[in-house]
Amino acid sequence: MRELAGRPVAAQVEEGIQRRLRERAARGRRFPLLAIVWVGDDPSSAAYIRAKEKAAQRLGIPTRLVHLEGSSGEEAIGAAVQELSEDPQVTGVLIQAPLPPGVDYERIIRLLDPRKDVDGFHPLNAGKLFRGRPELAPCTALGILQLLRHYQIPLRGKHAVVVGRSNIVGRPTAALLEQADATVTLCHSKTEDLAALARQGDILVAAVGSPHFIRASMVKPGAAVVDVGIRRQDGALVGDVHPEVREVAGALSPVPGGVGPLTVAFLLENVVKAAEYLDPL
Ligand SMILES: NC(=O)c1ccc[n+]([C@@H]2O[C@H](COP(=O)([O-])OP(=O)(O)OC[C@H]3O[C@@H](n4cnc5c(N)ncnc54)[C@H](OP(=O)(O)O)[C@@H]3O)[C@@H](O)[C@H]2O)c1
Repeated sequence: MRELAGRPVAAQVEEGIQRRLRERAARGRRFPLLAIVWVGDDPSSAAYIRAKEKAAQRLGIPTRLVHLEGSSGEEAIGAAVQELSEDPQVTGVLIQAPLPPGVDYERIIRLLDPRKDVDGFHPLNAGKLFRGRPELAPCTALGILQLLRHYQIPLRGKHAVVVGRSNIVGRPTAALLEQADATVTLCHSKTEDLAALARQGDILVAAVGSPHFIRASMVKPGAAVVDVGIRRQDGALVGDVHPEVREVAGALSPVPGGVGPLTVAFLLENVVKAAEYLDPL
């Protein structure tokens, strides 16, 4: 079984980003500034934000944290997002999920300039993705595709089964796989006989958020399996794919060290892309 390690692939993506940043600096173009909107004090959000800030720092990209009280309502959050949208110094904005209960994420994201939407969650960017012309697309989906391409997993004409249909992972991954000429089945919690469908996949992407959900009996022998899930269990990070799948799969991405590093790398790539849209070379 081949291990689809994400770190070396992420390192390559980051090298490309650094080249583009050097070129921007040399030509006097606007340097990226990533703003992160954080509402409340959720500890796992804090950890994710720290990881993103650290990664940006590593590449010399400055960040600005806009931290709002957990009691902030839609109006205050919306005003902060609008201000960042209009701030000429800020080239990229991400809104850390989850937002407080009662705040409609869909209404907030619409207030963001789509050219600064580094998560690729604005409806205009989602629309461009689903029409086959992605610009700023969701980072995890971009990472999954890059992982498969890097390890030369054939996609054209192959059957890709994606389990999970979130707007963050499953749906955009299915769209990108289809655009890479795979034939895609998108499964979710209401799918009947999911195991039989999963077993048909030459490529199986697990984005469920349920530890060890994918068992060996659900995997076609020799399939390439991408494990997107991350859950913390007794202090360890656990994926959606059961360890027994190693005996059946032809290739498998580890957790941690698989999709995770690529999500961060593609976030940073989107940050550079957004700066390029606002101030082209
Ligand atoms: N590695 C990374 O960089 C990265 C990035 C993002 C997310 N993640 C991880 O990936 C996982 C998924 O994230 P997400 O944001 O997509 O989660 P999510 O929004 O909770 O979506 C989970 C999806 O799985 C489906 N599902 C849940 N239980 C199922 C079942 N028993 N059978 C079939 N489908 C089922 C749900 O179906 P319904 O739509 O029918 O409810 C939903 O579409 C999480 O563990 C998350 O932490 C990792």
